[in-house]
Amino acid sequence: MAKNKTVFFCQECGYESAKWMGQCPSCKNWNTFVEEIKTAGTAKHTDSKSMQVPTSLFMVTSENTPRIGTGYEELDRVLGGGIVPGSLVLVGGDPGIGKSTLLLQVCRTLVNENYNVLYASGEESLQQIKMRAERLGGFEKDMQLICDTDLDTIENAIVKTSPKAVIIDSIQTMSAASVTSAAGSVSQVREVTGRLMQIAKMNNIAIFVVGHVTKDGMVAGPRTLEHMVDTVLYFEGERSSVYRILRGVKNRFGSTNEIGVFEMKGLGLSEVSNPSEVMLSGRPEDASGTVVLCSVEGTRPLLAEIQALVSFTNFNIPRRTAVGIDFNRVNLLMAVLEKRAGIQMGNCDAYVNLTGGLRLSEPAIDLAIVAALVSSFRNTVIMSDTVIFGEVGLAGEVRGVSMAEQRAKEAARLGFKKCIMPQANVDKIKNFKDIELIGVSNIEEMITLLNR
Ligand code: TYD
Ligand code: MG
Repeated sequence: MAKNKTVFFCQECGYESAKWMGQCPSCKNWNTFVEEIKTAGTAKHTDSKSMQVPTSLFMVTSENTPRIGTGYEELDRVLGGGIVPGSLVLVGGDPGIGKSTLLLQVCRTLVNENYNVLYASGEESLQQIKMRAERLGGFEKDMQLICDTDLDTIENAIVKTSPKAVIIDSIQTMSAASVTSAAGSVSQVREVTGRLMQIAKMNNIAIFVVGHVTKDGMVAGPRTLEHMVDTVLYFEGERSSVYRILRGVKNRFGSTNEIGVFEMKGLGLSEVSNPSEVMLSGRPEDASGTVVLCSVEGTRPLLAEIQALVSFTNFNIPRRTAVGIDFNRVNLLMAVLEKRAGIQMGNCDAYVNLTGGLRLSEPAIDLAIVAALVSSFRNTVIMSDTVIFGEVGLAGEVRGVSMAEQRAKEAARLGFKKCIMPQANVDKIKNFKDIELIGVSNIEEMITLLNR
């Protein structure tokens, strides 16, 4: 007979331990351990799989899996070209950001193209889903709904309706009877995800799973969830603003770090196909401390505005804040400015802000941050027709970045006249007339350019 064993799981990262601990040795969070019952002695796999022999690489026929369009180019790009049948996609994001809305809109496209779709909700009633569908409008064909939190019921429904796509809203509300702990706990979330993965692969169904995000931006429950699924998408953005950014952080069927930009309207989410324009709208043209930068997200260049405010402080410890970019990167760049360019900002507060609710972590935005800091410190305005990008090293050198030509092209497309960029990149670009390329090889060169 199978014996039950008590184990302790870290709620944040899924670390497993035989005894309770105050601090998780893996993710260092405090008070995250919960007790759960684990059934020992799981069934051994004794099927025909153990008889399989290896196949040679040359014998495997490559076939292009057909993708199903979602009706939204922004979403298709993040998914790597559309929905892959048999894949499990996790959609994470804060409550109220629009996960259910987006997935219902995807359902609408699929049913209108004659695909069978099942929407399983553990959070909302049939009437609530109906109301949302009516608000969105445009449903020409029927779709199947089920409001239940029991995985077996949902599995039965899948077998009965044999859909092409299934939406599970949300993973934290679903529970499998084989696990005794409460819905949303580490072992439940793991078990349910594992079962869903099996269902997806065996029946060739695309399954979208909604996951809630905790305060610090993780999908609630174990981080192991991210390892289990094929694709992880995050819905980001300030809830107060209408723009939402869908970011791919893991994708077994395409490149990661692609972003899709959406706008929340009265009739659901609509895509924004020209995000650079959106990010730059309302930009002050004659203020100091503001710079336009160009970052590459996945395969697409994106222009955005970075603002800095550097002001003298009477306190001993100056305040530093960074919104949308890495705080430590700002401190590092300020140290480089002090040491390599002799600009003393040690007695100044510094606030750096990336506008538009965007979050960027690419080093290619360094040079623009430096320019914004210097511009605010000296109170000089940077020409509004200039785009700046480049990575800054600790020696104050400006290093080349990837996809420089695409970045410059995007700047030219939006009517910018000058591009301050790494000299190493300028040397490689030939016959480029759309925009004036100004190469710099260290931050001092750039600062002299800004003084003109
Ligand atoms: P929802 O999809 O329910 O969020 P999630 O599933 O991520 O929790 O989104 C709800 C928000 O979106 C809610 O605040 C209302 C707003 N909304 C609109 O502005 N327009 C619409 O057409 C819809 C359906 C929702
Ligand atoms: Mg929802």
